[in-house]
Amino acid sequence: MPFERDQPFNDLPLLPPAAELETRAVLKQAIAANRMLANLRGLAAQIPNQGVLINSIVLQEARLSSEIENIVTTNDELYRADADADGKTDQHTKEVLRYRQALNHGFRELKGRPLSTNLFIEIVQIIKEVEFGIRKVPGTALKNERGEVIYTPPVGEAVIRDKLGNLESFMHAQDELDPLVKMAVMHYQFEAIHPFEDGNGRTGRILNLLYLVDQGLLDIPVLFLSRYIIANKPAYYEGLRRVTEAQDWESWILFMLLAVESTAQQTFEQVTRIRGLMEVVRGQVQTAAPAIYSKDLVEVIFAHPYTKIQFLVDAGIAKRQTASSYLQTLAGLGVLRASKQGREMYYINDALFAELVR
Ligand SMILES: Nc1ncnc2c1ncn2[C@@H]1O[C@H](COP(=O)(O)OP(=O)(O)O)[C@@H](O)[C@H]1O
Ligand SMILES: [Mg+2]
Repeated sequence: MPFERDQPFNDLPLLPPAAELETRAVLKQAIAANRMLANLRGLAAQIPNQGVLINSIVLQEARLSSEIENIVTTNDELYRADADADGKTDQHTKEVLRYRQALNHGFRELKGRPLSTNLFIEIVQIIKEVEFGIRKVPGTALKNERGEVIYTPPVGEAVIRDKLGNLESFMHAQDELDPLVKMAVMHYQFEAIHPFEDGNGRTGRILNLLYLVDQGLLDIPVLFLSRYIIANKPAYYEGLRRVTEAQDWESWILFMLLAVESTAQQTFEQVTRIRGLMEVVRGQVQTAAPAIYSKDLVEVIFAHPYTKIQFLVDAGIAKRQTASSYLQTLAGLGVLRASKQGREMYYINDALFAELVR
C-alpha cells in the first residue's frame, strides 16, 4: 500500500534502505563531519577530570532536545535545580534532568551490553518516568502546528518489535557504511517506527549519541546535536517527511552530517573556552588566595555553575565552616557570586554559566 499520512505505515521498509546512501555529496560531507568529531573526541580526552565539565555540558543537550518537544525550562532554574538533591523544581525542569539521567544510564549500560530494544525502553521510561512499553494500541499520530496528521506510525506490537529488531541488526551489522551515515539512517528509522506513545524524539536523539560512543567515534556523549536541530527545526521535520514520502535519503543524511559537523565544532570551541576560563581562575586563586588554592577546589566550582558549601564538603576539600569561608573568599575575588534563594545559599560561577548557555 502506498504511504498515506493518516494510515498506519506498517509497510515502512526494513533497513538497509534500497537507495544508494553514500552519494558523492554524502561522502564529502561525511569526511568533514568525521574530521570535526575526531577533533572533539581528542579534546574531550584531554579534559583532566572528565566528569567535571561533561555533566554541565550534557545538561544543555538535555535542555535543547527537550525544548524541541516543547518541554521548556530556563537555564537559571535548570542549573539551580541541578545543584539541589531534593528535586524541588517544576515538572519541565525535572523532565530535562531526567533526560540527562537517561543518557547517562545508556552510556553506563553500553559498557556491558549492546544497544537493544530493551535499552530503548529503559531510556524512555527514565525520561517519562512511566512504565511505558512498546505501543500496543493504535491512535498515535504526528501532527503539524495546524493539527493536521502528517505521519501515522506502524501499528501492532509484533510489527513494531519486528522493525526494531531489524533496526538493531542494522546498527550492529559489519558493513562498509560510514557510521555517521548509519546514524542518520537509524535516526529516521527509529522516528518512523515511533515505538512509544511519547518520548520518541528524545529517545531517538539519545540513541544517536550512544551509537557514536558505541562505534568509538566519541568516548563520552558530548555533542550538541539538538542545538542544530532546534535552530533548523523545519528542515528536521521536512527531512524526515521526505524520506517517507519521496525516499529522499540524500537530503536527510546531508542534514544530519551537517548537524554533526556544526555541533562538533561548536562543542569543541565551547570546551576550549571553558578550559581557558578554568586556567584563568586557577591563576587568579593561586595568586590572590594561595592559602585556599587546590586543584580540587577549582574543579568543584567548574563542575556546576551553582556551587553549594556541601559540594566542597562532599569533595573532601574542607569541613563546613572552612568550606563556607573558601566560597566567601572566592566571592570576594569576583570568581563566584553569592546568591541567597529561599533558604539556600548558592555561589554562582557566572562566567561558566555564560559559556554554557551561549
Ligand atoms: N514526519 C515524521 N516522521 C517521523 N518522525 C517524525 C516526523 N516528524 C517528526 N518526527 C519525530 O517525532 C518526534 C516527536 O515525537 P514524540 O514521541 O512526541 O517525542 P518526544 O516526546 O520526545 O517529544 C520529533 O522530535 C521527531 O524526531
Ligand atoms: Mg512528545
